[in-house]
Amino acid sequence: MDSFELNKIMGAVLGACLALLSLNIAAGAIFAAHPPAKPGYEIAVQEQDTRGKPGEAAPAEEPLPVRFASADVGRGENSGKKCAACHTFGKGEPNRVGPNLYGIVGRAKASEAGFNYSAAMKGQKGNWTPEDLDVYLTNPKAMVPGTSMTFAGIPRGKERADLITYLNTRSDKPADLPKQAAAAGAPKAQ
Ligand code: HEC
Repeated sequence: MDSFELNKIMGAVLGACLALLSLNIAAGAIFAAHPPAKPGYEIAVQEQDTRGKPGEAAPAEEPLPVRFASADVGRGENSGKKCAACHTFGKGEPNRVGPNLYGIVGRAKASEAGFNYSAAMKGQKGNWTPEDLDVYLTNPKAMVPGTSMTFAGIPRGKERADLITYLNTRSDKPADLPKQAAAAGAPKAQ
């Protein structure tokens, strides 16, 4: 192989390298990676918070007597398991973290003997009417700010009606719960 031929080969290799290099530069210019203005990508999801936010009006609920009309003691007893960590329901059963709840429907507030109520609860007037229980059990701290009952509440109105109906059976003289058929034509809430 003479030096002329070698020169030709070297030239070809060099030319190829040059061509590759310029192709690379050109490609870089065309397909330059632009950093995104905002890192990550946005996912548009509408938050559906069924529990509602503080300060927001609760979703329209059927009146308590309408809920009582379709309430179920068995479902209420089941729901009462949420309370059983702190409360007993039977006659003469002891106070636990919370007071014994036998006869609570219609009982004077903060009146269970031997239970150390919070000042906030002692300041409540009157008896536990079904209506008051409905409000208290929705959000205890909202009705009785400073209550020592650390329970978030039961947001579903139907469940509260079931539970109060059950509580009412745990009594020497169950109250006559007001019942009213749903207004005709009214949309049936689940
Ligand atoms: C984490 C424990 C706890 C749970 C769970 C709990 N409670 Fe209570 N409850 C208490 C305490 C403590 C008090 C006393 C509140 C006070 O003095 O402020 C109380 C008070 C009450 C009162 C007022 C009693 C009275 O004699 O005036 C009612 C009614 C009541 N609870 C019902 C319920 C029901 C129904 C449930 C279940 C859905 C429940 N609680 C779940 C701890 C609890």
